Amino acid sequence: MSAHKEAWGSRVGLVLAMAGNAVGLGNFLRFPAQAIQNGGGAFIIPYLICFLLMGIPLLFVEWSMGRFGGRFGDHSTPFILNSVSGGKRAWWKYVGVFGIFTNLAVAAYYCYLESWTLAYVWRSISGAFAGNDAAAVSQMFTDYVSLGTSEPIVFWIICLLLNTWILSRGLAGGVEVAAKVGMPLLIFFGVFLAVRGITLTAGEAGAVYDGTEGLNFLWTPDFSSIWDFKVWLAAAGQVFFTLSVGMGSIQCYASYLRQRDDVALNAMSAGWMNEFVEVVLGAAILIPISVGYLGIERVVELTQTGGLGLGFRTLPYLFQQWGPILAALAGMAWFGLLFFAGVTSSLAMGTPVMGFLRDEFGWRRERAAWAFGALVFILGAPTVFFFSYGVFDEYDYWAGSVSLVVFAMFEIILFAWVFGMDNAWAEINRNADMKVPVIYKYIIKYVTPVILICVFFGSLLSSGGILDKIANKDLHAQIAAATDPAQVTELEKTLTFVNGSRLLLVVIFALIALLVYLAQRKRNREGRVPIPSRE
Ligand code: PHE
Repeated sequence: MSAHKEAWGSRVGLVLAMAGNAVGLGNFLRFPAQAIQNGGGAFIIPYLICFLLMGIPLLFVEWSMGRFGGRFGDHSTPFILNSVSGGKRAWWKYVGVFGIFTNLAVAAYYCYLESWTLAYVWRSISGAFAGNDAAAVSQMFTDYVSLGTSEPIVFWIICLLLNTWILSRGLAGGVEVAAKVGMPLLIFFGVFLAVRGITLTAGEAGAVYDGTEGLNFLWTPDFSSIWDFKVWLAAAGQVFFTLSVGMGSIQCYASYLRQRDDVALNAMSAGWMNEFVEVVLGAAILIPISVGYLGIERVVELTQTGGLGLGFRTLPYLFQQWGPILAALAGMAWFGLLFFAGVTSSLAMGTPVMGFLRDEFGWRRERAAWAFGALVFILGAPTVFFFSYGVFDEYDYWAGSVSLVVFAMFEIILFAWVFGMDNAWAEINRNADMKVPVIYKYIIKYVTPVILICVFFGSLLSSGGILDKIANKDLHAQIAAATDPAQVTELEKTLTFVNGSRLLLVVIFALIALLVYLAQRKRNREGRVPIPSRE
């Protein structure tokens, strides 16, 4: 069996698709919430340093590894890592399991979140929020996620079908088209809302502060945080999530490049586009508008549970202060941009799963796309039905943050140390359309791996970190402190669901590893040795 043929249609399409991969809900909901929670200006410095020392190097590494794997007909990380390791150590394939697992597990909750945005576009246009007070608008969200009606399920299924359909049309005919339509619209909506956010003035339409109040909070550097390890962890986590590094999706997209294509400049174009959307647009909507109405203290309080509350409970209400027409437009723009950001990212999560099924088991594209849709449906169901028992957050924690760091740590060691830094550097610069600053050779070899190892051990051992999470310290403390028996029952139920979702994630990981094992056996049987493409 030979590897399937598929390629990007154009360079613009590729860069937009890669930017679409990176630009996601993380830019508009997660970034503002992280920034606010970690002290605004105190967050930005660690964030930018992590971007330069971890984000950019990993972009170079993942793009190059992907193109390298594509040469041997490999489009998913188990076998991309296998090719990069020279096939000498069988276990690298199993490290690559992360690059399929995270995509599936993140897609499982991400597509559900994506479907909320679609429902909220509809609610904004149909004027569902008009005339409601703050509590009522917030309650609408509570009712939504507690599945009071079948609306969330309907939108979720529509969203899954849409993703499956686009994926089944292929890269050039589906993903690229979605990115070419979605990205410009997203930027257009984003600029509209950002202008509104920045120009909001105290006293106008009920605002208490100027929009610049929130921006100043974010952009006034505060060096005190340099010594706060928690802020560094949060910054590193955000850089990972927003750039989609450590996921396996960039490697997969890059594996569909032609061998003569550049990776250095493309990687930088997509990466910097993501940063523009994150720190310029992403920062100029949620924060200035909510701070303008509610003040910093209240907004800090509201983001304690992430950006979702602010984005879905608070903003739709604040938009109502602008009069019915502007409110409907702003709601459509906000949830519409979230939707486009979401879709172009979930497509990137589908591609590695499909690439694996197609490469190894010879599945047709349509069949692979439907398989992905069905898997997301099955794995996503617990996040939909048991949302209030913390299943969604559990997926996010293990697949959307811990796994990324673990995988990135291994892959950079593989690339810089096993493949060898000289080969790696040559690979990054092969057919490059820009000169990569030579300092990155040293950063990739020494600095990034060391930072990643620190981040990993830091998150393992810090209080509230991985070990504490495994022991469910927080939940047990809550149970011990609870006095109301009903509350204790609820918390114990949460504990069961939390442990159950972890078990499920472990099982999925093991099943993917089993598939990789079977794929290797199949390769052996067929005597399939990697043959570099002659392009
Ligand atoms: N980078 C995306 C975001 O910011 C999330 C994502 C993760 C997309 C992994 C693809 C793969 O929301």
